[in-house]
Amino acid sequence: MARRKFIAGNWKENGLYAEARQLIEELIPLVKDATTADIAVCPPYLVIPAVAEWIKGTNIQLGAQNAFSTEAKGALVQKGAYTGEVSPAMLKDAGCTWAILGHSERRQYFGETDEKVNVKVRACYEAGIKPIVCVGETLEERDSGRTAGVVEKQVRGCLASLPADKMAETVIAYEPVWAIGTGRTATPEQAQEVHAQIRGLLKELFGAEIAEAVRIQYGGSMKPENAAELLAQPDIDGGLIGGAALKAKDFTAIIEAAK
Ligand code: 13P
Repeated sequence: MARRKFIAGNWKENGLYAEARQLIEELIPLVKDATTADIAVCPPYLVIPAVAEWIKGTNIQLGAQNAFSTEAKGALVQKGAYTGEVSPAMLKDAGCTWAILGHSERRQYFGETDEKVNVKVRACYEAGIKPIVCVGETLEERDSGRTAGVVEKQVRGCLASLPADKMAETVIAYEPVWAIGTGRTATPEQAQEVHAQIRGLLKELFGAEIAEAVRIQYGGSMKPENAAELLAQPDIDGGLIGGAALKAKDFTAIIEAAK
């Protein structure tokens, strides 16, 4: 079965209420006839309830950029004394379908590890939130020939001991750190090579059927000019879009490039 393309916008720390409203209002009519891809926006937490209202009845799905959980007394935490945090159960309650987990900016600035991501992934399943799990190497790791090893370790660590039926609904985003926000995109060949490697690893871990079903997004300076080429690769099943997702026209052009 062909995998349906999935284009998601990661707004990062952008989107005051009025800005979010304008972006969503522009986006709804532009993408309403898009049939070849699933579409999601991942705004900052504070505007999630508002965005959930605005997109009701449209073909736009909602995601968060993070979620918090930890293990306490043998259970996955969905609420409690964790000041400042938001759990997968709260995201579900607010209307989210998705949560981005383990983004490289969270790994770099907020101490996110594969182990922490693994707990969050399992807590998302428990709450009915589908995870978008981010992996990717730094420039130094690529230049020293360690890309495959780094990505394998991240995939194994983040997805450790997951049931296969849950895995089929999980999305992986390959985001080479050197391509994020830099304007420097991975070539379609560079991206495809890593995507194929990830799918091979999923086959080993979860079996061929699941590996064929999992969607693997590319992220890192994807824009209207390079989206079609990237999305034409056999193992690139969509995009996780940063900067270009903040402009309704650019985000739409990327969605239209997903055939
Ligand atoms: P840019 O598209 O701005 O490079 O960001 C990619 C990204 O990090 C998406 O999660």
